[in-house]
Amino acid sequence: MAKSNSFTCNACGASFGKWSGRCDACGAWNTIVEETPLSAGPASKSLGARRGAPIRLTDLTTEEAPPPRTNSGISELDRVLGGGLVPSSAILVGGDPGIGKSTLLLQAAARFAQAGLKTIYVSGEEASAQVRMRAQRLGLADAPVQLAAATNLRDILTTLETEKPQLAVIDSIQTMWADNVDSAPGSVSQVRAAAHELTTFAKRRDMSVILVGHVTKDGQIAGPRVVEHMVDTVLYFEGERGHQFRILRAVKNRFGPADEIGVFEMTGAGLAEVLNPSALFLSERGEPSPGSVVFAGVEGTRPLLVEFQALVAPSPHSQPRRSVVGWDGGRLAMILAVLEARCGIPFAGMDVYLNVAGGMKVSEPAADLAVAAALLSAREDKPLPPETVVFGEISLSGALRPVSQTENRLKEAQKLGFTAAIAPSGGKPGGDSGMKLTRMGDLTSFVGEVFGAG
Ligand code: TYD
Ligand code: MG
Repeated sequence: MAKSNSFTCNACGASFGKWSGRCDACGAWNTIVEETPLSAGPASKSLGARRGAPIRLTDLTTEEAPPPRTNSGISELDRVLGGGLVPSSAILVGGDPGIGKSTLLLQAAARFAQAGLKTIYVSGEEASAQVRMRAQRLGLADAPVQLAAATNLRDILTTLETEKPQLAVIDSIQTMWADNVDSAPGSVSQVRAAAHELTTFAKRRDMSVILVGHVTKDGQIAGPRVVEHMVDTVLYFEGERGHQFRILRAVKNRFGPADEIGVFEMTGAGLAEVLNPSALFLSERGEPSPGSVVFAGVEGTRPLLVEFQALVAPSPHSQPRRSVVGWDGGRLAMILAVLEARCGIPFAGMDVYLNVAGGMKVSEPAADLAVAAALLSAREDKPLPPETVVFGEISLSGALRPVSQTENRLKEAQKLGFTAAIAPSGGKPGGDSGMKLTRMGDLTSFVGEVFGAG
């Protein structure tokens, strides 16, 4: 008989066939607990033993119009949702504690309520009075949102059943407690059960539900990834603590493009939309300085200019430092290796720091060339030509690969006062943006042309 996995790690959600003191997957101690199967007993062994009820089948053609979406009026949020809130959808909003999830969702709940949706906001973390105080501070005290401070899932579901709201916000899924599951709130089994109950309730009762999920140290929604599979849309709310900018990023969306971002600013009166984020991320620019390069990027459907800053200095350590904020460390190592192997520019014995200004996180490979340019500029202590943006992917051979949406990138750069761009050869024409566009085929010619021979 095949052994079933019936032990689960509370920290990472990995399952095992037997108990052990330390989780092999995440290394945490004393986090492995036994899972109670959905239904026990011999009858559950083989599903074929007893006949189920027939399921009604439909075909793909349907007369029904797509359900109308509701816009909150917070356009940064509506766009990330794929154009407003879809009825009976389930949304998970993840983020570090203190990043502003409760603030965002209280503002969103108020706006959706004002837009005509019957809305209930359930807080498992704060008392109703606290939430009311926050609402007052945000200037939302007169919004028709119903508040509840509760954690018992059974009570919450009963209330939702009688109140029949069109939108429920659950803050947070880690505080919910299902009394039929035998483990502590916040454990994998509890989070999974609560998310399952709430999402199936939402589908059955034509209610949209927004679940708040805390994120663990390594950046995953605490407890199980399984919650991500249960919902239609997964949004991450991210930002650096020291910065006031917050990015709401769609990482999964059944109703719209993934990778879409919305940009907010945390102010004394809650989160404010940032409608022109490029201007914001570049606001501190003056004379071009060595190591600073503006990347013409695209996030989702929208072009976005961000500034890469690099510092390269002789290292006092035998193992030089490689420190990166806002970009992938592995990708940085790759670019350093390509610069060394293909262009003969060594970074051995030097500390390298790379930073994306404003607390933005960039994941596009199109940023490769901007990173290489920042590293070279810092190493040679020579600024790039003024008013210039850079984009392009670098391959391991040192060739520059064209990237998508050249025209969009150029237009955005021009809008913000840039006059020149360096991009890979090939690919789509840049349109008539009026920008001086220099195209290059490989990294070696880039180094030669921009930084002279050495
Ligand atoms: P919060 O929404 O409670 O975070 P989360 O729910 O993700 O844990 O936000 C907490 C932070 O936001 C807190 O440090 C204070 C700050 N804040 C403001 O700066 N302005 C505001 O208007 C509000 C409500 C919060
Ligand atoms: Mg909160």
